Amino acid sequence: VEAALGAGPLAGRHVLVTSGPTHEPIDPVRYIANRSSGAQGTAIAAALRDLGARVSFVTGPAAVPPPAGVTVVRVETAREMADAVAAALPAEAAVFAAAVADWRVANAAGQKMKKDGTGRLPALEFAENPDILATVARMGEGRPRLVVGFAAETESVEAHATAKRARKGCDWIVANDVSPGTGIMGGAENAVTLITADGAEVWPRMGKDAVARRLAARIAEALS
Ligand code: CTP
Ligand code: CA
Repeated sequence: VEAALGAGPLAGRHVLVTSGPTHEPIDPVRYIANRSSGAQGTAIAAALRDLGARVSFVTGPAAVPPPAGVTVVRVETAREMADAVAAALPAEAAVFAAAVADWRVANAAGQKMKKDGTGRLPALEFAENPDILATVARMGEGRPRLVVGFAAETESVEAHATAKRARKGCDWIVANDVSPGTGIMGGAENAVTLITADGAEVWPRMGKDAVARRLAARIAEALS
């Protein structure tokens, strides 16, 4: 509503959000993917829009539809996502909520792979995908003022996320515990620890929309 009025704390600001999984083809009919619905990234884009930001939303094939009132760029693979992010910059803040496939299939087939009738199994070879977050976080000129990454961890969440923040060179890491049993992957709630230069803040478990609004408010504060 504020966005429609051209108001809100992020009015006039351009922010970039990545979301969803990526799909890495094996052949024209098969792919490797991540278990991500895109729900948290979509909620973050909507919350930033609600604070008045102009939002570029670069999304892989997600289970949930993109929010209204944002610029949607649909991609399939990690390399397409990297290109779309580069094309959407500059931005004042960038939030990397996508579950990017770490590896693509290096020997993807141009035609559908067929069983050869002898029981011989195909061998997939992998290549590492570009790290989109780290690339943007380490840009010199043109780096967004605030670069926010995510870390999905199943153990030692704070320690792993703190190390990841340093390794990637981003300003904040939103860490979530996605161990089986938490119900977070694919669920409506999230349990988040925000890692900044000042340390770790454990947020109470809340809905993904509430996490998104709280994160958007923090981003607005950081850019003010
Ligand atoms: N990310 C990215 N590009 C990649 C891989 C990850 O932009 N090729 C981003 C994700 O969007 C997320 C952050 O990096 O914001 C962390 O992703 P994660 O998979 O937790 O980290 P990795 O460095 O891939 O480490 P891990 O070995 O734990 O998967
Ligand atoms: Ca990864």
